[in-house]
Order: sequence, then C-alpha cells, then structure tokens
Amino acid sequence: MSAEPDLDALFAAAKAVQQKAYAPYSRFKVGAAILGDDGKVYPGCNVENAAYPVGACAEAGAISAMIAGGARTIRAIVVIGDGAELVTPCGACRQRIREFAAAETPIAIAGPEGIRARFSLAGLLPASFGPANLPT
Ligand code: THU
Repeated sequence: MSAEPDLDALFAAAKAVQQKAYAPYSRFKVGAAILGDDGKVYPGCNVENAAYPVGACAEAGAISAMIAGGARTIRAIVVIGDGAELVTPCGACRQRIREFAAAETPIAIAGPEGIRARFSLAGLLPASFGPANLPT
C-alpha cells in the first residue's frame, strides 16, 4: 500500500492555480491538483470559451498536465471553488478521473479555507464503466 497522500500540498497547488483560471463568462474560477503516481503534483484550471460548450473544466486540465508529464495514475485529486456549495466534479469529469484512478482514490473538495469533504471515486461514480469493460 502507498502512503496516505499529502492533501495539504494538493490543496495549496489547487488554490494557486484557481487564481489563473480563465472564466470570464461564468466568473466561477475552479482549480484542481492531482497527485500522480510519480509523486508529482499536476495542476489545472477551468478555461472557458466564447463558444460556451467548448470550455474545459479544471479537472480536465489537470489530467492533461498529468499525462503530458508522464504519469499514468491519479493517487489523489483536490478540487477547489468558491461559494458555500461543494464544488464536486461534473459528471463528465468523474468519468475522466475514472480512467486514471482506482475505486478508492480520494477526491477531496475544498473551499478557500481548506478541504471541506472527501469522497472516493466509487462514491462519486458507482458501478462505472472503464477500460476493463472493453474487449482486449
Ligand atoms: N467547473 C470546473 O472546472 N470543474 C468543476 O468541477 C465544476 C465546474 C467549471 C466549468 C465552468 O467553467 C465553470 O466551472 C462554471 O460551471
């Protein structure tokens, strides 16, 4: 078993990258930080577009950074947003995370003051479809 991931370091990275988000339409900045299986932290922020549906979520950016950096597995992810509600990953991002994470991988949700809640991937996306469902 690997050691418990350092969620404090992920929180700091997610909070820093949240400020860089490009969200002129929603004005809702989101940051995400992934701990990869290489021990590195990969941040991402939401990047919106004048053609609204083309915008990308913070989690998608962090996953792209992780893959481009050479890691292949998410050990933990922290997502941060403002407001009173929990900024849990959207349905599409739960599936994106699922591709590179295990059922028990922690998904922690933060507000500006710190981590507010902690879920597992299986808790947010039960009975999910993944790579093993495809014939080899
Ligand atoms: N957003 C994310 O980046 N991640 C989430 O988990 C929830 C929503 C973004 C998408 C859009 O740019 C803005 O937040 C408002 O929905």
